[in-house]
Amino acid sequence: MTTILAIAGSLREKSFNAMLMRAAAELAPAGATVETATIKGIPLYDGDVEAAGIPPEVQALKDRIAAASGVLLVTPEYNNSLPGVFKNAIDWTSRPSADIPRVYGGKAIGVIGATPGPGGTGLSQAAWLPVLRTLGTLPFFGARVQVAGAGKVFDDAGRLVDAAVRGQLEKYMAGFAAFVARHAR
Ligand code: FNR
Repeated sequence: MTTILAIAGSLREKSFNAMLMRAAAELAPAGATVETATIKGIPLYDGDVEAAGIPPEVQALKDRIAAASGVLLVTPEYNNSLPGVFKNAIDWTSRPSADIPRVYGGKAIGVIGATPGPGGTGLSQAAWLPVLRTLGTLPFFGARVQVAGAGKVFDDAGRLVDAAVRGQLEKYMAGFAAFVARHAR
């Protein structure tokens, strides 16, 4: 069984990216399990806090990332780049740096995202690439999910109701799960 940890990079209760994360979990192919994670509760990075010990919320997220065969970042876009709150969480999971190979080294990783705007989070997804390279991950480039106009793609209950996006996401998850299974460490 291939286990993928999906992390939504928004703190908002009605986050479109959390909706997209849940839809990705539902559309995972047979043989793959998608677990979901939140960045809620992750404190702001502070070297003095780190010196006193990795906070338990950070340790828990790190352990879940380390245990998963693949990681799916579900990212909003802020000011044509990645959101600070999401990067803060991933930065914390890269500490101490001696642990990076265990947590991230060679790990299959995908990035998808949703926005109510027209751009589909393409710039945010691209902005993650230097981070993924620095962490030594293995990014998946076999498909894209860049959800634009998210207000019409999800209904009030947070369900993915757009058939075309649903098809794209299903195809992405099939390709990503196969990639994860091929490269599982
Ligand atoms: C945004 N938003 C946004 N959207 C986009 O497509 N491109 C952008 O550059 C930005 N910039 C931006 C900056 C800041 C500071 C905020 C707060 C928002 C809008 C953003 O996509 C929208 O708030 C989403 O709803 C955020 O994702 P969640 O919370 O719905 O997952």
